[in-house]
Amino acid sequence: MEKLTILGAGTMGHSIALSAAWSGHTPTVYGINEQDVTNADKGLAQKLAVMADNGLFDNNEAQAIRERILFTTSLEEAIGEATFILEVVPEKLQLKRDLYKQLESLVDPSVIIASNTSGFKPSLLAEGMNHPERFIVAHFWNPGHLIPLVEVVNGERTQEEATARTMALLKAMNKKPILLNKELPGFIGNRLQYALFREAQALLDAGAASKEDIDAAVTYSIGRRLPVTGPLMTADMGGLDVFSAISNYLFEDLADDQRSGKILSELVDQHKLGDKTGQGFYEWAPYVSEEINRKREQTLIQFLKNDLEQEG
Ligand SMILES: NC(=O)c1ccc[n+]([C@@H]2O[C@H](COP(=O)([O-])OP(=O)(O)OC[C@H]3O[C@@H](n4cnc5c(N)ncnc54)[C@H](O)[C@@H]3O)[C@@H](O)[C@H]2O)c1
Repeated sequence: MEKLTILGAGTMGHSIALSAAWSGHTPTVYGINEQDVTNADKGLAQKLAVMADNGLFDNNEAQAIRERILFTTSLEEAIGEATFILEVVPEKLQLKRDLYKQLESLVDPSVIIASNTSGFKPSLLAEGMNHPERFIVAHFWNPGHLIPLVEVVNGERTQEEATARTMALLKAMNKKPILLNKELPGFIGNRLQYALFREAQALLDAGAASKEDIDAAVTYSIGRRLPVTGPLMTADMGGLDVFSAISNYLFEDLADDQRSGKILSELVDQHKLGDKTGQGFYEWAPYVSEEINRKREQTLIQFLKNDLEQEG
């Protein structure tokens, strides 16, 4: 079993640690200071409580999972016994590269260094590394403890052993890893997500429908099917002649904007950033935020329970 160290205790860091500990691993999580670690520990306790309340495990197991995670603010302590380091620090290219340089001066070349980057190509991140053959991307999705997909992306110089060990670790964490055949910005999931988001913005900017109706057009239609069949299998089921004919007249009319849309840009300029600032496309009063987050979490837990049942 790999000895996993997670560098970064934020949104993704502590939820990935929860996922690892739930599968029996004993991850060490590095946070930059005491406040960072306290926030992560609090977030962990809340997530475990919701998972236990929704029947994924009992309170004893929740306690055992929590005890398998070690938090530290010492980088040296964090990586001391690591065989596999997952970097989960902010999405800043130079910050990540500087960290890899520091890590390479402290750990053996056999230790895998993986990044949870949302979209930087691994070859770009690994520029300047002494041992890029042990570097790889393992992109988890938010919330890291409830979404099964992890995208694994090799850089130009990643060696097979690193890929094999990464896939094995993710499977041992009960994740659903996919291995890309080539590196490209945004990988697969974010490219698909942002294609939909670009069109949603264009429709909103054009006044084609209200924001509520644009969202409803997804949640009450394709959103209902996509958890069962992806876009390619959906097309097979609908008939490829039909999907091809529609592609042939519709593609030329779809949004191809190179930047964020007008409404989104204005909201960001006004520091209306969504849930975290209380206003975005929607108003986010605390009780609304609580309700929507709870509903989403419960639905994601239900999907996980279905997966567990099917896997028997
Ligand atoms: N939040 C998401 O939805 C999401 C989803 C998938 C991938 N990611 C990626 O995961 C990574 C982390 O994102 P996040 O949302 O968890 O960020 P975050 O801001 O919530 O947490 C970042 C953590 O990194 C550490 N950190 C902060 N500054 C640091 C520094 N200067 N040096 C070393 N460590 C530092 C701290 O522990 C901090 O809590 C990013 O690469 C991001 O793109 C985020």
